[in-house]
Amino acid sequence: MSVVRFGVSLEKEMMDELDQYVEANNFPNRSQAIRNLIEKYAVEHKWQCDNQVAGAIVIVYDHHKRNIDSDLNEVQHNHHHLILSSQHVHLDHHTCLETIVVKGRASELTALADSIISLKGIHHGRLVMTRT
Ligand code: NI
Repeated sequence: MSVVRFGVSLEKEMMDELDQYVEANNFPNRSQAIRNLIEKYAVEHKWQCDNQVAGAIVIVYDHHKRNIDSDLNEVQHNHHHLILSSQHVHLDHHTCLETIVVKGRASELTALADSIISLKGIHHGRLVMTRT
């Protein structure tokens, strides 16, 4: 990918904010920080416009909770066309962590994440949005 250089004019306060952002996130330079901001915008835009995107649904739950394993299994089978993989980790005697990698239209992935995260017994769930 070719790199293009361009000049940017910013108010002093905005430049200070940018430098704080660079420092707080350990970016090596301002260019890398700006790349990150543009990428963040691009991902958000793709999700808002219901494009083809990718992501991961991360959930933590107690597998002793009645029906949770079979409910999770059923939701995932019903949406097998959106799910690329899933990984189950037994964190301790009670607690399971599952990462479900998904790809599809943004609205379908959001609906799937909502239906998983709202299952009875899920302690914590989150959809990590990224792009293809
Ligand atoms: Ni487990």
